[in-house]
Amino acid sequence: MCKRPLFAIMVTAFAIFAASAQAQVAAPPSGDAINGERIYMAVGCYLCHGTVGQGGRPSGPHLAPKPIPYEAFARLVRRPANAMPPYTTVVLSDRDLGDIYAYLITIPPLPDPKAATILDK
Ligand code: HEC
Repeated sequence: MCKRPLFAIMVTAFAIFAASAQAQVAAPPSGDAINGERIYMAVGCYLCHGTVGQGGRPSGPHLAPKPIPYEAFARLVRRPANAMPPYTTVVLSDRDLGDIYAYLITIPPLPDPKAATILDK
């Protein structure tokens, strides 16, 4: 008889925990691109992903242009798949992460090399 309320509390606590974890990952990708570029440089993303997110082998995959959807982006920064160091909220706030994303979506695609007729020799 005593066990049921405890079980209910545990289920509720887990539901709240799961909801908050979900909310953290699904933060909106609106943000300040200028601040995002500053943070991207300050916390060292550029060291492995390049100053304009172009990436490099073997340091890190390209992040721009056309970054992956924000939810996956945020998840992989908080809990990277393999060699990337994790950036927790201790070193990178959700707001700064959103700003980084805002910076990455402003990066235009590289010009098509075929459009540079001066190279046609
Ligand atoms: C020490 C090098 C390094 C640093 C610094 C770094 N990354 Fe990474 N990142 C990687 C590597 C390597 C991968 C490939 C997955 C892995 O090995 O974990 C990766 C993967 C990613 C991915 C997943 C890309 C995809 O298409 O799967 C995202 C998003 C990402 N990094 C964002 C960032 C951001 C934002 C920062 C700065 C806050 C950052 N990274 C800092 C090395 C780095």
